[in-house]
Amino acid sequence: MYDVVISGTGLYTPPNSISNDELVHSFNTYVAQFNAENAAAIEAGQIQALTESNAAFIEKASGIKSRFVMDKDGILDPRRMKPRLPERSNDEWSILCQMGVAAAEQALQRAGKSAADIDGVIVACSNLQRAYPAISIEIQSALGVQGFGFDMNVACSSATFGIQTACNSVKLGQARALLVISPEICTAHLNFRDRDSHFIFGDAATAVVVERADLATSEHQFEIVSTKLLTTFSNNIRNNFGFLNRTADEGEGKADKLFVQEGRKVFRDVCPMVAELVAAHLDESSLNVRDVRRFWLHQANLSMNHLIVKKLLGRDASVEEAPVILDSYANTSSAGSVIALHKYQDDLPKGALGVLSSFGAGYSIGSVILRKK
Ligand code: COA
Repeated sequence: MYDVVISGTGLYTPPNSISNDELVHSFNTYVAQFNAENAAAIEAGQIQALTESNAAFIEKASGIKSRFVMDKDGILDPRRMKPRLPERSNDEWSILCQMGVAAAEQALQRAGKSAADIDGVIVACSNLQRAYPAISIEIQSALGVQGFGFDMNVACSSATFGIQTACNSVKLGQARALLVISPEICTAHLNFRDRDSHFIFGDAATAVVVERADLATSEHQFEIVSTKLLTTFSNNIRNNFGFLNRTADEGEGKADKLFVQEGRKVFRDVCPMVAELVAAHLDESSLNVRDVRRFWLHQANLSMNHLIVKKLLGRDASVEEAPVILDSYANTSSAGSVIALHKYQDDLPKGALGVLSSFGAGYSIGSVILRKK
């Protein structure tokens, strides 16, 4: 068995950002158009008038101020309200591959490694753009990595589940190093016409090099002390998009083929589960929660993160202890906690303990205890 480290992390941030004001302006234009076009039916009580969204509500309820997106114009066009991402020929790299490669190149650079040092690619994310061939195998080819690749999906927890999977392979000597890549185009599965959720997602990609400790040379190493995962079934975050959709004509175009959630219930269910899992994980590892310098948490909702850390520490956490990236990225699903790790790690001294934790649909929760080397 080998000791395992994260030796480099990488981030791809899309070039365009949408503020709450811009998003709400587009939404409210759509609402005005809808209500005007359906005035007679609304008057007759046959359909309900739509209600406007509000930028102040969004920031207060979620902590989100803006989000990076792969296509801004398509989302903000009130007649369209979805990104425009044109099809590419099979001879071009796919868009998820392109984002993943950009994040992977930075992770390799920070790890001080090249494609020749990597024995495989795991793409771990919420939404894969096709059934096959696997995006990971395409990324392998684009980077020039030998070995194997496979895709896996555990929604928002995909990256931590991917890190455990990679860690175990490296520990067993099946690979010297693996890349865990999380390209997320969350705006493509977000219903921008749904007032309750139109603000919650953004796009980004992250990458992590998981490497044998005795081979790692970078200055950015974290020992993977331990990993712990949990899943428990819930319908409160659900997306029924899938290959069987075309066989059920009655479901075509329905809202459940995009992201749907019961936000309040998710909040209520998930916060205690995460706090309990992380506390148990630290306890099993004979570590004291008070010795944890940093919590890189999933980035969905600021109040959720405040509550989770408060349950763990018995007091409010500072932004140094629980860094926030959702204010400018929104929820980027599996990429969120890794973005926090990527952006907020270089100030930590040797020996500092941190917990990377994801949570989301499934429900799924991941906890990765890291120690700065
Ligand atoms: N603009 C203005 N008002 C809005 C609104 C909008 N865009 N969306 C909802 N509201 C209103 C509602 O109509 C409701 O009004 P009422 O009290 O008069 O009935 C009120 O705001 C509260 O709505 P609610 O949906 O209960 O808001 P919330 O406080 O739960 O916040 C979320 C919504 C989505 C921000 C929050 O539930 C959340 O983030 N949950 C966790 C989700 C999560 O982590 N998901 C993981 C995804 S992977």
